[in-house]
Amino acid sequence: MYIWFNGKLMDRQSASLSLQDRGVLYGDGLFETFRVEKGTPMLEDAHLNRLRQGACLLRFAQVPEPEELKRGIRELLRANRVRSGYLRITLTRGIGGFGQPLHRLTDISVWMEAREHPLDLSRYEQGVQAVVTSIRRNPYSPLTRVKSLNYLESVLARDEAAEAGVEEGIFRTVDGDVSETASANLFLVQDGCVVTPDVSRGLLPGIVRSWVLDTCTQRGWAWETRAVSVEELMKADEAFLTNSTWGPFPLVAVDGRSIGSGKPGPVTREWISRWRKVAAGDSAE
Ligand SMILES: Cc1ncc(COP(=O)(O)O)c(C=O)c1O
Repeated sequence: MYIWFNGKLMDRQSASLSLQDRGVLYGDGLFETFRVEKGTPMLEDAHLNRLRQGACLLRFAQVPEPEELKRGIRELLRANRVRSGYLRITLTRGIGGFGQPLHRLTDISVWMEAREHPLDLSRYEQGVQAVVTSIRRNPYSPLTRVKSLNYLESVLARDEAAEAGVEEGIFRTVDGDVSETASANLFLVQDGCVVTPDVSRGLLPGIVRSWVLDTCTQRGWAWETRAVSVEELMKADEAFLTNSTWGPFPLVAVDGRSIGSGKPGPVTREWISRWRKVAAGDSAE
C-alpha cells in the first residue's frame, strides 16, 4: 500500500509524522474524503476548493496547489490500483508550539491515502436509522463549517448512536433545530420539495449537499434551505442523508419512529440512481 506524503509516493510503512505535529496535539488541520469510481475521484474540484477555503478560514500560511494535489491523486490511485473506493487528503499545520503566530508556520504536512472499497449496496435498500444525540452544534463556531481534524463531536455522536443500536447520530443546534448527522448532511422531502437545514445551523456545507441543491436549481425542482425542527423531520414524507462516501442514502427512522413508510422513499431512490449515474461518468447528471 502506497501513500502520497509531502509530494512523494512512498510505502505506507515508511511514512512517519512527528509527535510534535499540531495535527496530533491540537487537531490543527483539515481533511477531505473523496469517493473514487472508475478510478476517478468524484467532484474533485469541489473537494479541493473546500480544502483551500477551509485552510484560509483556519489561517494556514500555506496550502498545497490544487494542480500538485491533482497530480498526486492520479499517481496514488494508479499505484494502489483503486477503481471503486475512497481517497483521503489530510493537511496539518506541522510542527509548532501553541501560541506561535500562525503566519510563521509554513512547514505544513500533507498526505493522501487511497483504498479499494466497493459500496455495500444493501445500505441503499434498507436505509439507516438514527437517534437525536445530546450534542449540540454551535452555529457560531468556525469549526462546524470546515472539515477539521477535530472530529470529536462526530466520534461521540456515533458512540451515542451505537449505544442506541443504530448507525447515525443527529446533531441539533443550541436552539434545538436539526443541524446534520455525525457524518452526513440531512434532507427531508415534504410534498415533493427537498428541504435541508441552512448553513447557519452549524453544519458542514457538504459537497454532495451542494450537488443536490445545484441539480434541483438546474432542473427547476423545488428546494428550500431553512430551519428544520425534529418534529418536522419525524413527520416528513421521506428523508435521506448525503456524504461523499455514500452519495445520497435513505434515513428511515429517528429515535425508533419510522419516517414516512419506514422504507426508502421514491424521491430518495431517484437521488440514489442519479448519483450512480454521476459515478458511472454520465455527464448528463
Ligand atoms: C459532519 C459532516 N457533515 C456532512 C458531511 C457530508 O459532506 P460531503 O458531502 O462533503 O462528504 C460529512 C462528510 O464526511 C461530515 O463529516
